[in-house]
Amino acid sequence: MIKKICCIGAGYVGGPTMSIIAQKCPEIEITVVDLNQKRIDQWNDADVSNIPIYEPGLSNVVAEARGRNLFFDTDIDKAIDEADMIFISVNTPTKTYGKGKGMAADLKYIELCARQIARVATSDKIVVEKSTLPVRTAQAIKNILDHTGNDVNFEILSNPEFLAEGTAVSDLTNPDRVLIGGQQETEKGKQAVQALVDVYAHWVPKDKILTTNLWSSELSKLTANAFLAQRVSSINAMSELCEITGADVDEVAKAIGMDSRIGPKFLKSSVGFGGSCFQKDILNLVYIAKSYGLNEVADYWEQVIILNDHQKRRFAHNIVKTLYNTVSDKKIAFLGWAFKKDTNDTRESPAIYVAEELLSEQAKISVWDPKVKESQIYTDINALGSIETDEVNNRLKVSSNAYEACKDSHAIAILTEWEEFNGYDWQRIYDNMHKPAFVFDGRGVLNKNKLQEIGFVYYRIGEGG
Ligand code: NAD
Ligand code: UGA
Repeated sequence: MIKKICCIGAGYVGGPTMSIIAQKCPEIEITVVDLNQKRIDQWNDADVSNIPIYEPGLSNVVAEARGRNLFFDTDIDKAIDEADMIFISVNTPTKTYGKGKGMAADLKYIELCARQIARVATSDKIVVEKSTLPVRTAQAIKNILDHTGNDVNFEILSNPEFLAEGTAVSDLTNPDRVLIGGQQETEKGKQAVQALVDVYAHWVPKDKILTTNLWSSELSKLTANAFLAQRVSSINAMSELCEITGADVDEVAKAIGMDSRIGPKFLKSSVGFGGSCFQKDILNLVYIAKSYGLNEVADYWEQVIILNDHQKRRFAHNIVKTLYNTVSDKKIAFLGWAFKKDTNDTRESPAIYVAEELLSEQAKISVWDPKVKESQIYTDINALGSIETDEVNNRLKVSSNAYEACKDSHAIAILTEWEEFNGYDWQRIYDNMHKPAFVFDGRGVLNKNKLQEIGFVYYRIGEGG
């Protein structure tokens, strides 16, 4: 029976995942630890609306469990030592240096965790990979842990997380499945798997808890993300063909989605997928395939990324082309900066790359996003390193509401599908814009008829004229 859990990494996965486990398992004490003092302070903020991650419903869960059996701390050693089960939920970004630069997952944070656990642990531990990892990483973690020279037994499990941002609380409360990979051949391995099954069984039906061997579990996570991203790239590839043939990508998506073998979900054409994981995980998959000499497999998956990059660029190019081939000193309003609605996360958001293209054409950009902070938007653009900071400060402004962002603009670009956008007073927005007033709907969410009636020139991704 697990009494104490430690989770290393208080990010988008560690925070919400542990909050739900704490809510559902009040008899288990859970401590979420992180190196980042500020993040931990935010999780501990007396006002729960200040927790560092915006997720619908999350602050209520934190309010219920925090201080009862859910704790956030920076004392990592203590939490490791006291726990029976340790989740590793740290970031695994794409490597930015050395061998595998730009492709492989950077496992340095994972290795640091393993070494810290090895150094600190004085009693047996079940170590759970929660982060998304290359297949066979459990072997490396095991090697590090088994060379501690003390008498501690470590069992490694893989328990990848499938939550999507914006719907984390409902995904965690009602998961399609929970996947647990472990060493089923040994008695201790079986017991470790069972211990984690028992945690989830507090609220997840048994038939949705799937147990596999370690490698299947690790590889299933990369495979799931690759398949999901591939669906978005597939419909986005069709969006370009729709635009020049007069077809409508939403109609095509509906028509194919009614085939039960294809299914209706995840077929919404867009300005491209973003988020911290799809691109990183596919690049990692491509790297793994190449490292085994599977070049055709690698090329197949790489195409998903190539198409996504193309989709972001062509959206920006279409704006330039439509605005009479120049956007120099024209104001373009961005509605949305987050990579999808209902999150404040901007990692790999398509908005960043569309802005980069337009800034390089000397456009002026004003951004409004209901949840993203001004400082984050500047950080995102400056991190690209492709545009001078002075130029960014001159040309990019962050507005405090949509009306201000759109005032005196030549065009509006919809980059995130925030629901509030449809409720705006579009007549008021139109009245304050240069004419012709263009809208480029990169998410296909606005009411086309209404906008056209007002007088907007409206372009929707994937809609042929
Ligand atoms: P994140 O960057 O939001 O959080 C990771 C946290 O780990 C950071 O706060 C960082 O300070 C901390 N950290 C790093 N090294 C540490 C160490 N040695 N000791 C203590 N803390 C340390 O990342 P995330 O989005 O939560 O993703 C974590 C993992 O989960 C990644 O592998 C990702 O691929 C995977 N994943 C993410 C999502 C998602 O929706 N974001 C979903 C499923 C899986
Ligand atoms: C995705 C997966 O959905 C999760 O299962 C997974 O756990 C997670 O990655 C991860 O490993 O990090 P997430 O990136 O949070 O979750 O959000 P998604 O809903 O998958 O959206 C990803 C991107 O694809 C967004 O930019 C979204 O706008 C775009 N998208 C999604 C589309 O353009 N069209 C769609 O039909 C669906």
